[in-house]
Amino acid sequence: MKLLVTGGAGFMGSSFIRNVIDRVDLLVNLDALTYAGNLDNLKEVRASHYHFVEGDICDEPLLARLQVEYGFTHIVHFAAETHVDRSITGPKRFLETNVMGTYALLELVRANPGMKMHLISTDEVYGSVDEGFFTEETPYAPSSPYSASKAAADHLTLAYAKTYGIDVTISHASNNYGPCQYPEKLIPLMISKCAAGEPLPVYGDGTNVRDWLYVDDHSEAVWRILERGVSGEVYDISGREEVRNIDLVREIIRLMGSNSEIVFVKDRPGHDFRYAMRGEKMEKELGWKRRYSLQLGLERTIDWYVNEKNCLRDSRSTSVNAFS
Ligand SMILES: NC(=O)c1ccc[n+]([C@@H]2O[C@H](COP(=O)([O-])OP(=O)(O)OC[C@H]3O[C@@H](n4cnc5c(N)ncnc54)[C@H](O)[C@@H]3O)[C@@H](O)[C@H]2O)c1
Repeated sequence: MKLLVTGGAGFMGSSFIRNVIDRVDLLVNLDALTYAGNLDNLKEVRASHYHFVEGDICDEPLLARLQVEYGFTHIVHFAAETHVDRSITGPKRFLETNVMGTYALLELVRANPGMKMHLISTDEVYGSVDEGFFTEETPYAPSSPYSASKAAADHLTLAYAKTYGIDVTISHASNNYGPCQYPEKLIPLMISKCAAGEPLPVYGDGTNVRDWLYVDDHSEAVWRILERGVSGEVYDISGREEVRNIDLVREIIRLMGSNSEIVFVKDRPGHDFRYAMRGEKMEKELGWKRRYSLQLGLERTIDWYVNEKNCLRDSRSTSVNAFS
């Protein structure tokens, strides 16, 4: 497998690279190194068949040059603008990267018959559900510019599969957490604020529910799809660990023995109440199961942030709240 990974310097892409580097013949990580990209996330990846290219996925001539140089057989497409709050204050970059960037990669696949692409998408495309579960058949109802841009990329990808017969798969993951996540997102933000003894900002009344998936479990699920996924199919990757935000924050305080206090702040506009996917297809058709419970994953994550000081970035430079 000659693999192009986009956005591999980010949180989930770097976990994927660390997990699969020994299973492929070649791996090129194309990343624009936005504020969310950090090559320290890959400092342990030293294999000679790993190459990093700094560049934008929207740059079609660059993609074509890389294809000539490396002859990719597969693409796993993580690169995106990912933070809901940033999409509310500045949606344009989300449309450029998440929609036009995906378009550029689809064109690369179209121009290279036999190439396979997997698109990393999100449960947020389904919108919010008070009761019950999303499945792969649930119609999309995105609430934020971020989730709308991801939904657009999904639609475009499936339309390319139908129109041009290209080989693509898509996965929707629930909220990932683990090492190397930029501390604008809930779990690393709360850990870094607890470590600094600062107040913990929680949106609304904290009753919003999220389903949590440890990032290395996500990486294994994506590998399973690459190996066994059926072309044109969509797979929901659920952590099956639903918890209210307030309860999650209280658990982080408890595990860290922190004195930080929770402060409720004005809710995010269009804030989805609950995400929950059934996720049976991954288990039944691809035999994937998560390995990390939320408890175990949280302990490992806290340990990583507390002990890897160089990766605990300054939370004050990020937006105050963080829920995606
Ligand atoms: N974090 C989650 O909980 C979650 C859940 C479900 C799905 N997803 C999806 O997973 C993917 C990865 O998420 P993440 O949390 O690792 O994101 P992240 O923000 O940590 O990393 C994104 C990476 O993409 C790179 N990037 C951004 N724009 C680029 C461009 N134009 N060209 C090349 N590189 C670019 C950044 O430099 C960064 O390294 C995204 O597609 C996201 O929508 C995330």
